[in-house]
Amino acid sequence: MDRFIEIKNLVKDFYGRGLLNRRKPALRAVDRVSFNIDRNTVFGLVGESGCGKTTLVRSILYLDPPTSGEIRVDGVSLDNLSSRQLRSFRKRMQIVFQDPNSALNPKMRIDASLAEGLVNRGFPAVERDRRIRRLLGLVGIASAHRSRFPHEFSGGQKQRIVIARALCMEPDFLVLDEPVSNLDVSIQAQIINLLLDLKKELALTYLFISHDLNLVVYFSDRLGVMYQGRLVELASADQIMRNPCHPYTRKLFSSVPGKQTDIEEDDDSGPVSSGGLKAARSLAGCPYADECPIGDRECSEEEPVLVEITAGHRVACFKA
Ligand SMILES: Nc1ncnc2c1ncn2[C@@H]1O[C@H](COP(=O)(O)OP(=O)(O)O)[C@@H](O)[C@H]1O
Ligand code: SF4
Ligand SMILES: [Mg+2]
Repeated sequence: MDRFIEIKNLVKDFYGRGLLNRRKPALRAVDRVSFNIDRNTVFGLVGESGCGKTTLVRSILYLDPPTSGEIRVDGVSLDNLSSRQLRSFRKRMQIVFQDPNSALNPKMRIDASLAEGLVNRGFPAVERDRRIRRLLGLVGIASAHRSRFPHEFSGGQKQRIVIARALCMEPDFLVLDEPVSNLDVSIQAQIINLLLDLKKELALTYLFISHDLNLVVYFSDRLGVMYQGRLVELASADQIMRNPCHPYTRKLFSSVPGKQTDIEEDDDSGPVSSGGLKAARSLAGCPYADECPIGDRECSEEEPVLVEITAGHRVACFKA
């Protein structure tokens, strides 16, 4: 396999400012995360709302650089790049978010939205038009509709347009941050299949994020299960399906797909719902100890680290 991205010990802390400008304790949104993504594969990242998935990918893309740790793409550490190199680098990496409505300017016809990136890349009008037609064709939008406004399309169509726009830059890496979570189940399958077709046709590499483990297993080659900022299980989709080892992974399999536990974003005063984060959580012990049906005293005193249990399958649990 051809290694594309290597992420080592990534940490992202947020600092809040409290009353009287006191620097509040850090919220560790991403906690020592390491994994690799091979070229032309899909790496899935799963975990419930608030566990740090978006923060992690924003760090990987250097939209909000990590507090510590290392990201290497094609063997090059992003930390060593100048801001100019980083900009040209970022064009290779595009991100598609959950909500196509906030991604598209409602006052802009979709051909104008798509043209923006192409103008930046210096293409003349005729070539832009040719590329826009081709991109819309790739994502299944009739090019006759290219001068319509976003509100004239359905949710699924809008997400197709957002995907087309991401492809304008001819990226080789796409981050898909819950790209189908806002869509009806019937439309979800269409977009997922479109993404799989595009990956094959354009030789793309994906980092796919979802809170729905069943979807991630279907879509991904390898995947990581995230809980409170940490990876608790890392394996191939096949291994997770046949033998989910972490108690949290098993819980995700048994929970109803599409059902999300939200946490209160600004309340960092104490424990929050399961997969979310506790502010300045003690680093001792297993983060899942409070909820785990099989945990014991050792679990709250010592921290389990990812250990390989079979080739390529790592679990952070004493009882795995
Ligand atoms: N810019 C920020 N400043 C402070 N806290 C943040 C910021 N962005 C995210 N967080 C917090 O980090 C945690 C992880 O959030 P996020 O990465 O959005 O989770 P997910 O994408 O898994 O739902 C949450 O507790 C969230 O409130
Ligand atoms: S280490 Fe202990 S508390 Fe943590 S998941 Fe495993 S059994 Fe449960
Ligand atoms: Mg998110």
